[in-house]
Amino acid sequence: MEQRAAWGCVALAALLGCCAAQGAGPGAGLRELLAWKQVSFAFADDAARSRALDSGDFVPEHNAPLGLDVSGDRLFVTVPRWRKGVAATLNVIHLDDAMLRSDGPPAAPLLQPYPSWEANTLPAEGEGEGAAAGKLLSVFRVRADPCGRLWALDTGLDDLLGSTRRVAPARLVVIDLASDRVVREYALPDADLKPDSFWAHIAVDVTNATCDDAFAYLSDVGAQGLVVYSWKQNASWRVEHHFFNFDPLRGNFHIGGANFQWKDGLFGVALSAPDDDGGRTAYFHPLASTHEFAVPTRVWQNSSAADDYYAYRVLGSRGERAQSTASFIHEPSGVLFYTLVNRNGVGCWNTNKPFSEENQGLAAHDDKALIFPNDLKVCGGGNLWVLSNRLGDFLYGKLDPNEVNYRIFRRPVPEVVRGTVCE
Ligand SMILES: *[C@@H]1O[C@H](CO)[C@@H](O)[C@H](O)[C@H]1NC(C)=O
Ligand SMILES: *[C@@H]1O[C@H](CO)[C@@H](O)[C@H](O)[C@H]1NC(C)=O
Ligand SMILES: *[C@@H]1O[C@H](CO)[C@@H](O)[C@H](O)[C@H]1NC(C)=O
Repeated sequence: MEQRAAWGCVALAALLGCCAAQGAGPGAGLRELLAWKQVSFAFADDAARSRALDSGDFVPEHNAPLGLDVSGDRLFVTVPRWRKGVAATLNVIHLDDAMLRSDGPPAAPLLQPYPSWEANTLPAEGEGEGAAAGKLLSVFRVRADPCGRLWALDTGLDDLLGSTRRVAPARLVVIDLASDRVVREYALPDADLKPDSFWAHIAVDVTNATCDDAFAYLSDVGAQGLVVYSWKQNASWRVEHHFFNFDPLRGNFHIGGANFQWKDGLFGVALSAPDDDGGRTAYFHPLASTHEFAVPTRVWQNSSAADDYYAYRVLGSRGERAQSTASFIHEPSGVLFYTLVNRNGVGCWNTNKPFSEENQGLAAHDDKALIFPNDLKVCGGGNLWVLSNRLGDFLYGKLDPNEVNYRIFRRPVPEVVRGTVCE
């Protein structure tokens, strides 16, 4: 990511110029379940917490939650190692009735390292790559599949914005959610890597009837490419296409109090429900772009067909300032949700309708609570989950520890889309 930052506040509302209805109140369109000024972790006891603070293993202001997914009553939250002092990169929160139902203020639970503290402990310098086996180092996004597995895409890098230490190669780590054990570790081979490769998003293509034939699609946002991983073959291949590239006219971001320029390529990959022969449509977009594209997943799954230029379709632009990170499809309705990082909101498009700017809805919008909506998923009975984390201010400015900086929202999909063009 580009780290050139220009300072100054921008009156976002004035720039939005958007047509859709804008609600009021925290995360209008969504319900704020969890909210933290700073996150803390479930240390064994106060002494362990004090030791971590004293040693610099835990620097609270360097811990920004970024990715999420839900499986049953477990909410997984990632905290990438942008800087030194991230206590644990993969964490779980046990959702209880009070968190889910209370109409009171949002909860601020401790993060419990997952699957264990041990697995989240960074190997010391000089320990070698072997010491990273079975560990989670720096995870941006995760995906819980319908086969009881959690897929984590691990960059292998500590202190990304500082000394940038490569602790291990970028890896796919898959954890069995029943036993909480790592069941597969796959380091991306050199053939899949480019000098600028950087791994921030994963989509998993599987149903509960095809658990042994799963595919994962890993977005290389740094080097504008895609890597396909086959569970059955335990092998991967790189895919290149012009449509994975950033748009040089769409790389300027005004988010929260920060203005910065990014040239991030392929990011969000959202999968349609499978068709009769099990193939899906992958809808995808680069981050520094406002365009959406589509390709059949069968194309990606065949390494000799995946680079076929003509298999890919341009859908069109989502509109001004409609840059997006993660996207996800609610399979029963076919509604695609996407973060609107440059508009403090969540967009939607009903994939049963033609793709056009008019058919893009604003599912949620809030100039305070939805500053940098970073990840979203639809899970657990059709709820849309969204995490916002003021990433622009975290990276380029200063977060105020007296303000709420990190939030997690949830709302049933039918309520989210009611009254929008996505209904
Ligand atoms: C999958 O491939 C990786 C990398 O080549 C290897 O380390 C691992 O043992 C393999 N796993 C299985 C289950 O074959
Ligand atoms: C598999 O998924 C389908 C559709 O979501 C569901 O109806 C079915 O009960 C699931 N089967 C199992 C064994 O979980
Ligand atoms: C993969 O693609 C190649 C090239 O288009 C084609 O010849 C081959 O039949 C495909 N393989 C499968 C299994 O579909």
